[in-house]
Amino acid sequence: MTSIWNISILLFLVFGAANAKSNVNQEAKKPIQTFRPYNVAHRGACGEIPEETAAAYLRAIEIGADFIETDILASKDGQLVCFHDVTLDDTTDVKNRTEFSDRKRTYEVQGVNVTGYFVVDFTLEELKSLKVKQRFSFRDQQYNGKYSIITFEEYITIALYADRTVGIYPEIKNPVHINEHVKWDNGKKFEDIFVETVQKYGYKGTYLSESWLKQPIFIQSFAPTSLIYISNKTDSPKVFLIDDVSIPTQDTNQSYAEITSDGYFSYISQYVVGIGPWKDTIVPPKDNYLSTPTDLVARAHAHNLQVHPYTFRNENSYLHFGFHQDPYQEYDYWTNQMGVDGLFTDFTGSFHLYQEHTSPYPKHIKTSDDLLRKIEKIISQYEHA
Ligand SMILES: *[C@@H]1O[C@H](CO)[C@@H](O)[C@H](O)[C@H]1NC(C)=O
Ligand SMILES: *[C@@H]1O[C@H](CO)[C@@H](O)[C@H](O)[C@H]1NC(C)=O
Ligand SMILES: *[C@@H]1O[C@H](CO)[C@@H](O)[C@H](O)[C@H]1NC(C)=O
Ligand SMILES: *[C@@H]1O[C@H](CO)[C@@H](O)[C@H](O)[C@H]1NC(C)=O
Repeated sequence: MTSIWNISILLFLVFGAANAKSNVNQEAKKPIQTFRPYNVAHRGACGEIPEETAAAYLRAIEIGADFIETDILASKDGQLVCFHDVTLDDTTDVKNRTEFSDRKRTYEVQGVNVTGYFVVDFTLEELKSLKVKQRFSFRDQQYNGKYSIITFEEYITIALYADRTVGIYPEIKNPVHINEHVKWDNGKKFEDIFVETVQKYGYKGTYLSESWLKQPIFIQSFAPTSLIYISNKTDSPKVFLIDDVSIPTQDTNQSYAEITSDGYFSYISQYVVGIGPWKDTIVPPKDNYLSTPTDLVARAHAHNLQVHPYTFRNENSYLHFGFHQDPYQEYDYWTNQMGVDGLFTDFTGSFHLYQEHTSPYPKHIKTSDDLLRKIEKIISQYEHA
């Protein structure tokens, strides 16, 4: 409760009292753009600010994100939190906290023995007492120790309080591991709690439906079982994440070749609206130059699946040589040569500026007639109030 209250104050200070009202009336906000690839702020503006913190998400919204992206895990006491790794070691100060020194464990996670301080062994209160730090040594360290882990609900609140429509893009992360270690009442599973949480905040409706445009969401997972399971619980659009070619699916142990086959695309397209592949599997690099693209994008599109590749990062070490060390050229290639539908980026601001320079918002935002009629209806309601 305390943390929710704190974040409300933070949001109030950031967005101001006037905008706080917009949480109640999502329709009156500037709609999400749907005419160019989605700018998905990977773990918030994590190129600048420690990942998946409130500050990283607020910054991502400020600099142009269409969607803020997150990974959902569960605490020992069953609370859903935004955190990427199953262990706390790399992005918090847990190793310095002597009171937790007896929590170190080794668990087998997706066939690999992992040792560290696991999120599932800490209560929400304990997780909240930790401080988050920057993952990469070559990024800005000034925010280390300043921010806490946030809950799934706090993350949703940040999106809903934004002064324009900002979507959420939460991942059902490591569901096999979470369901093995965390138990809920009434035999509920991680996936049930996940869906109940988004539904509690009004997320519903198929892709581009009126409800979806009001509160856009993509639910993502590497685990096909989880996506298929939740398809009976929510019609919100889902995206199937695809790992490197050498890594089998974490729940069904299917190979990359199998899950990217035409047969599997036909099957999964009953449940998901798109795929989220690692970009180097679409255009494999050779000696750090791009080689010939695979037909993955064309085949996915032929099955009516969107393609949202990950992860775009500005730093030289992540840019293939063919882009002349220029992230704009990389965005241009993926937008115009590869024709993908959304990009996960650590640098939302760079992608936004690229898009604004090359495909600025039209004067009349291009959107469905339905939405325009809806907006007209809302305006007329205000006029008659
Ligand atoms: C842990 O403690 C060491 C020694 O005091 C300090 O240098 C380091 O910054 C601390 N790490 C974190 C993540 O707080
Ligand atoms: C993990 O460690 C346990 C205990 O040492 C061992 O029995 C198991 O085979 C290991 N699993 C893997 C995948 O290495
Ligand atoms: C979804 O519901 C249908 C109809 O009740 C059922 O046949 C199917 O097995 C369910 N699918 C999953 C994945 O639970
Ligand atoms: C996953 O599939 C591979 C290849 O078929 C097989 O060698 C491996 O034993 C399987 N792993 C599990 C955990 O079933």
